Amino acid sequence: MSLVLLTGGAGFIGFHLTATLLKAGYTVRILDNLAPQIHGALPTGLDWLSDQRVEFMRGSVTHEQDVHAALAGVDTVIHLAAETGTGQSMYEIARYNAVNVGGTALLLDVLANDAGRSVKRIILASSRSIYGEGAYVCPSCSPDKRVYPDGRSMDQLAAHRWEHECATCGANLMPVPTKETDPAKPASIYAATKYAQEDLVRVACASLGMDYAILRLQNVYGEGQSLKNPYTGILSIFSTRIRCGQHLPIFEDGLETRDFVHVEDVANAFLAAVQMSGSINQVINVGAGSKTSVTEIAGHLSDALDGERNLQVTAEYRLGDIRHNYADITRLQTVLGYVPQVGLAEGVQRFADWARQQPLPQDLLDKANAELRARKLMG
Ligand SMILES: NC(=O)c1ccc[n+]([C@@H]2O[C@H](COP(=O)([O-])OP(=O)(O)OC[C@H]3O[C@@H](n4cnc5c(N)ncnc54)[C@H](O)[C@@H]3O)[C@@H](O)[C@H]2O)c1
Repeated sequence: MSLVLLTGGAGFIGFHLTATLLKAGYTVRILDNLAPQIHGALPTGLDWLSDQRVEFMRGSVTHEQDVHAALAGVDTVIHLAAETGTGQSMYEIARYNAVNVGGTALLLDVLANDAGRSVKRIILASSRSIYGEGAYVCPSCSPDKRVYPDGRSMDQLAAHRWEHECATCGANLMPVPTKETDPAKPASIYAATKYAQEDLVRVACASLGMDYAILRLQNVYGEGQSLKNPYTGILSIFSTRIRCGQHLPIFEDGLETRDFVHVEDVANAFLAAVQMSGSINQVINVGAGSKTSVTEIAGHLSDALDGERNLQVTAEYRLGDIRHNYADITRLQTVLGYVPQVGLAEGVQRFADWARQQPLPQDLLDKANAELRARKLMG
């Protein structure tokens, strides 16, 4: 059975994807540097990496020797390794660029210079963040015309005008499912690096005659998400606060929405891309295809963890946060033949049951927010 390399495979998605690939009969190799921000200074909970069916290589996608060794004999590369904090990316620009863009460039460079390369397909974990605000219509004056608003300014946010407004009539715009053909408008450094990854993969694969799939993931949640990283993962951050008896600070008016997709569905979408015979060579959205407000998911999580609903809508905001976005998942269904299976209530309960069993991590949300405030990225 063919060998699949997962860069960043020791992380949240990699953990689930490894199990899914092994179950489907693939051999898995993981290249991961066990970044302390994700795994802690002394990584724990990684016993599964010593499974005999998993070949674990501790190393970085930014080190040529590590990449070279990891690629030997590989048929498919799934490129997951990345720095993933949207807010943090706004002030750690060089690091995000070095790992996300530099790491992808190095991977492709090693492949380009290996005349005997075995890799036939690269599957990139990209992000919905590349759309920025995504697609909207004005229900009042042009309900059939898709528009793509720019990010909201600090002035607009400070005035608590949370919704996007129609440039023609001033009415609030309404989000519609974002398609892969909609324009990319990255609004954070993280998003800019994910978009750069896409371009590198697309252009290099075309010139090297390799197939590619770019999966633009929406908000992935589920069991195994890092509880130690205060920069990303709303359910993880909120679960720690609920378990500490702290209130949940809800930004803006709490009605901002996201497309939450369970990690099991994400792993199955990657598996479908690995298994696809014939070429893919395109971008594919991976989401649930529905939108959920932050207030709603915070409420579900509080209930699932048996906590009281201690939600505080703070009207705070972060520059670079989008208002709404959810995916058009037609291509996921027609190209990869995959329909998401895990409903939100079931997925949140599964996450809560898992989180409850974990050692209680330090609540670092206030620290992460203080870093943003100090840089005037949060109001
Ligand atoms: N989780 C989401 O909601 C989401 C949404 C959209 C896109 N994505 C993308 O999916 C991918 C995986 O995300 P995740 O949620 O599993 O993140 P994660 O942080 O749990 O895992 C990332 C892994 O990459 C490793 N890593 C970091 N720098 C590395 C380097 N230089 N060399 C080798 N390994 C390195 C980390 O140690 C970690 O194990 C990322 O590319 C991310 O941008 C995730």
